Amino acid sequence: MIYPIVKFGDPVLEKPSAEVSVFNEELKKLLEDMFESMYAARGVGLAAPQIGISKRIAVVDVTFKEDPGARLVLINPVIVKKEGRQRSSEGCLSIPDFREDVTRAKTVTVRAQDVDGKFFEHTGEDLLARAFLHETDHLNGKLYISHISALKRDLIKRKIKKMVKAGEW
Ligand code: NI
Repeated sequence: MIYPIVKFGDPVLEKPSAEVSVFNEELKKLLEDMFESMYAARGVGLAAPQIGISKRIAVVDVTFKEDPGARLVLINPVIVKKEGRQRSSEGCLSIPDFREDVTRAKTVTVRAQDVDGKFFEHTGEDLLARAFLHETDHLNGKLYISHISALKRDLIKRKIKKMVKAGEW
């Protein structure tokens, strides 16, 4: 099932999500739906709040289907290590049509649980590191625009307000 993506302005995007403690068939189905929804929206990462579900779950595939082994499920993820710096353009499916340069760590280690509840650690670089940080932020109710200047953020918010008024958001 493909879920519609929740857009900026919906409070679900700006509140911390709840821990997952039950690892069952329902969760497996939700994860499949999340991958399907992410691919349909042409994204490389998706957090559950973005489909209106306030739970600490994210899916990532920075290869966009090219490498089936690159599909990552992050349940209750925590960033445990950050090193270096990278600066490049970042966007979000919940803030479509906008992109801004964001400085992030270059190498990031995340600790999370998989679909069966098993703990693992995964270290990513560059885009994968960025995805770990971006998606974990989502689960804490934080959006990438919190990492840009107040001036740029206000400009984006003003443009979105206009689009909402025009019925384009
Ligand atoms: Ni996002």
